[in-house]
Formats: sequence, structure tokens, C-alpha cells
Amino acid sequence: MEKISSKLWLIGGTVIVVVLVVAAWGMARQTSKDNFCVTCHAYEKVSWDHGKHPEVGCIACHTKGVVRDKTAGMRKVFLTLTDQVDPHHDNLPSYKDKINDNCIACHFEEERVALMPFFKERHDEYRKHTEVCMGCHEAGHVIKLRDLRQPGVRLRI
Ligand code: HEC
Ligand code: HEC
Ligand code: HEC
Ligand code: HEC
Repeated sequence: MEKISSKLWLIGGTVIVVVLVVAAWGMARQTSKDNFCVTCHAYEKVSWDHGKHPEVGCIACHTKGVVRDKTAGMRKVFLTLTDQVDPHHDNLPSYKDKINDNCIACHFEEERVALMPFFKERHDEYRKHTEVCMGCHEAGHVIKLRDLRQPGVRLRI
């Protein structure tokens, strides 16, 4: 009797763990989709739709790694739901160096560079003047459209 019940616990426990892992994975996937981002960042969707990267998802440029994305994401949902920050109106921080790393990861990827070696040579030259891709490229968002949001000063936090 003892043995059977401990076996049952083990099976039950394993099933629960599997269900939780699958649910967490599903949540992580859903919350990485553009549709989810756009619920809070409508202006940025418009400026992105008209930019040079409509086929590149939000996360590809904005990721700081899965773990940081998800913990920062939970904080953002909390700030929004508790009315501490209104992402449609308030000033938002920007992490340009992190975005820049993501531009480089895509555009200076080995296979891509091998197809157009002069691209890298010219860019090694360009980047002596300014490290930041956005200094020369209006990438991601059409700035004029993005700035229609006219972010206000953050009063709350
Ligand atoms: C529930 C609303 C909400 C959703 C959904 C949301 N955000 Fe945000 N976002 C915010 C808030 C609030 C801030 C400001 C956070 C702060 O002040 O620290 C913010 C800030 C940002 C910023 C600027 C600061 C930074 O972390 O780089 C970017 C970029 C951003 N969000 C991208 C995204 C992307 C990409 C998604 C989808 C994966 C997304 N957001 C989903 C509410 C949201
Ligand atoms: C090709 C890369 C790229 C993609 C794709 C992209 N962004 Fe951005 N995003 C940027 C860059 C670059 C900036 C910073 C612009 C600046 O401040 O010069 C930025 C800034 C932001 C900010 C900060 C607000 C601000 O005013 O600076 C938010 C929020 C944001 N993006 C949301 C999104 C959302 C939502 C999507 C998808 C619908 C998305 N981005 C897709 C590159 C991208
Ligand atoms: C997920 C990969 C990915 C990321 C991240 C990414 N790009 Fe792109 N980018 C592309 C693709 C795909 C295209 C369109 C096809 C092409 O020209 O190679 C493109 C096109 C471009 C173009 C050429 C547009 C034109 O006029 O033809 C520039 C410039 C550019 N990206 C700069 C950037 C910058 C700057 C960043 C960072 C803010 C960035 N990209 C982030 C994949 C990416
Ligand atoms: C000092 C200005 C400057 C900087 C900084 C710069 N670029 Fe460029 N980029 C250019 C110019 C000019 C061209 C067009 C001529 C060429 O291809 O060399 C270009 C072209 C491109 C193209 C299109 C290539 C093609 O023909 O398909 C991509 C993609 C690109 N840059 C990505 C980036 C990324 C990513 C960064 C950041 C690591 C970056 N650039 C930094 C000036 C710059």
C-alpha cells in the first residue's frame, strides 16, 4: 500500500511538473509575438510597419536575452496594470547599445558577410566614425511616425 501511494505521488508530481513547464513555455512564446507587444505599443507598430524591417519581429531587435525579457516583461505588465506607467503616452527608456548588438548579430553574421565581403570592409571604415548603426540608418521605426506619440514627461515613476 505504502509503495503504491508513493508511486502515485511520483507520477502525479511528474505530470504536474510537465504541465507547468509546457504552460510556461507556451506563455513565453505567446508573449514574444508582435501582437502582444502591440497591445501596449501601438504607435511603435505603425512606425515599424512603414520602416525597413516589417518582416523582422519586435523581439529580434529588442531582446536582451530570454530571462531578462521575461522578468522585465512581468515588471512592465505590472507597471501598466497598476497605472504607474502608461506606455501609450509616457516617456520610455531606450537601450540603444543592446539594440545595436542585435543589428550586428543579424547583419554581420558570417554567412551574410561571406556573400558580400565589401559590405563588411566598407562598414569597418564607417564604424570608425560612429559605432551606432542608428547614427546612419533609420532602422526599425520611421522616426517621424514614431514621434507622433509625443511622449510626455513621466510624472508617476
Ligand atoms: C502590458 C503592456 C506592455 C506590453 C504587452 C509590452 N510592453 Fe514594452 N513597455 C511597457 C512599459 C510600461 C514600458 C516602460 C518600462 C519602464 O519604464 O521601465 C515598456 C518599455 C518598452 C521598451 C523601451 C525600454 C526597453 O526595455 O527597451 C521597449 C523597446 C519595449 N517596451 C518593447 C516591447 C516589446 C518588444 C514587447 C513585446 C514582446 C512589449 N514591449 C510588450 C509596456 C508593455
Ligand atoms: C530593426 C529593429 C527594430 C524592430 C524590428 C523594432 N524596433 Fe523598436 N526600436 C528600434 C530602435 C533602433 C529603437 C530606438 C530608436 C532611437 O531611440 O533612436 C527602438 C525603440 C523602440 C521603443 C522605445 C520607445 C522610443 O521612443 O524610443 C519601443 C517601445 C519599441 N521600439 C517598440 C517596438 C515594437 C513594439 C516593435 C514591433 C512592432 C519594434 N519596436 C520593432 C528598433 C527596432
Ligand atoms: C532578425 C534579423 C535582423 C535584425 C535584428 C536587424 N535586421 Fe536589418 N534587415 C534584416 C532583413 C531580413 C532585411 C531585408 C533584407 C536585406 O536587405 O537583407 C534588413 C534590411 C536592412 C537594411 C537595408 C534596407 C534597405 O534599404 O534595403 C538596413 C540598412 C538594415 N537592415 C539595418 C539594420 C539595423 C541598423 C538594425 C538594428 C536596429 C537591424 N537592421 C536589425 C534583418 C535584420
Ligand atoms: C557612418 C555611417 C554608417 C554606419 C555607422 C553604419 N552604416 Fe550601414 N550603410 C552605410 C552606407 C553609406 C550604406 C550604403 C553603401 C554600402 O553598402 O556600403 C550602408 C548600407 C547598409 C546596409 C545595406 C547593405 C545592402 O546593400 O544590402 C545594411 C544592411 C547596413 N548598412 C547595416 C548597418 C548596420 C547593422 C550598422 C551598425 C553595425 C551600420 N550599417 C552602420 C552607412 C553606415
